Amino acid sequence: MSSTNTGTPTPKSITAPGLLKQKQQGRKIVSLTCYDYTTARLLDDAGVDILLVGDSLAMTVLGYPDTVSVTMEEMLHHARAVSRGTSRSLVVADMPFMSYQLSTHQAVENAGRFMQEARVSAVKLEGASPMVLDGIRHMTAIGIPVMGHLGFTPQSVHTIGGFKVQGKSLKDAKTLLEDAQKLQDAGVFALVLEMVPVEVAAMVTSQLDIPTIGIGSGNNCDGQILVVDDVLGRYPDLSPRFVRRYLESDVLIKEAIQAFRQDIETGAFPNNETEAFGFPSDLLPSLGDTGRSENTDQTPQPVS
Ligand code: KIV
Repeated sequence: MSSTNTGTPTPKSITAPGLLKQKQQGRKIVSLTCYDYTTARLLDDAGVDILLVGDSLAMTVLGYPDTVSVTMEEMLHHARAVSRGTSRSLVVADMPFMSYQLSTHQAVENAGRFMQEARVSAVKLEGASPMVLDGIRHMTAIGIPVMGHLGFTPQSVHTIGGFKVQGKSLKDAKTLLEDAQKLQDAGVFALVLEMVPVEVAAMVTSQLDIPTIGIGSGNNCDGQILVVDDVLGRYPDLSPRFVRRYLESDVLIKEAIQAFRQDIETGAFPNNETEAFGFPSDLLPSLGDTGRSENTDQTPQPVS
C-alpha cells in the first residue's frame, strides 16, 4: 500500500483485473482524461484510478473542433508523457479515428504501438462493429487489455449529427444493450457509456460483469469519467450539462498572468536580490576593466 497526499491509503497500482474486483466490491471507479506529464503526476497522486489519454485532446489541447483530426503520432506523444508521470493509475490510450477501422491487422499493430512505445496499460476503441469486435478479440488474445466505448461515440460525430444523447428509443436502447454484451464477450475489461439515459446505463451496468464507466450517463454506472479540463474549468468551448466544475482555473490563471504582466511592466519582477544571480563581489571592481580590455570599441557600462 502507498499513500496519497491526503493520507488516504491506496492500492499500489490499478490493473484491468483489479477493476473487475472493484465492481464486485461496489467501490466506484474514479477516472479522468489526462494529456501531459505534470497533470498525470497530480492525478496519480490524488488517487484517480484510470487516466485516459483521450482523443478529446484534439479539442482541449490542439484546438480542433472535434476528435477526428488527431493522429497516431500525436496520441503517442501525449500517451508517453502521461505514462512517465504515472506510478499508480491505470493509463489507457484512446485509439484515434482511422487507426483501427481499416483492418484487424492495422488495429492490432497500432494497439501494440501504444503498449510498446508509450507503455500504456490498455487501449480504448469506440463502437461495436464486426471489425471493432474482431480487433478486440485479437488484441485481448495477445495480451492487450481493451476498454470499450458506447453511446455517444465522438469519432462518429458527423454521422450522428452533433453531440447527442444515444439510446433514447426502445430500439436504440436494445441495440446498446446487445452491443454492450458483444463487447464483453469479445473481451473488453471495462466499458465507457457516454451520454446514455440513466435507466439504460443502469440496465447495461447490471447486465454486465465488467465495470461501466459513465460520462453523462448518470450515477448508476460502476465509475465516472470526465474531461480533466472541464473539471478544472479551463476549456470554455463546450459546457455539456453533465460536467461539474470543481475549479474555475481559467479565472485563476488569467488573474495570475495579469499580475505577472503588471510586475514586469512596473519593474517589480524580478527582484535582483532573491530572483537573480549576483557577480562575485570581490571581482566586481575589475568587471568594468574586463569589458574595456576585451572590446576596445565598447563603452564601459556602470554596474549597479
Ligand atoms: O476522449 C475522451 O475524452 C473520451 C472520454 C470522454 C470518455 O473518450
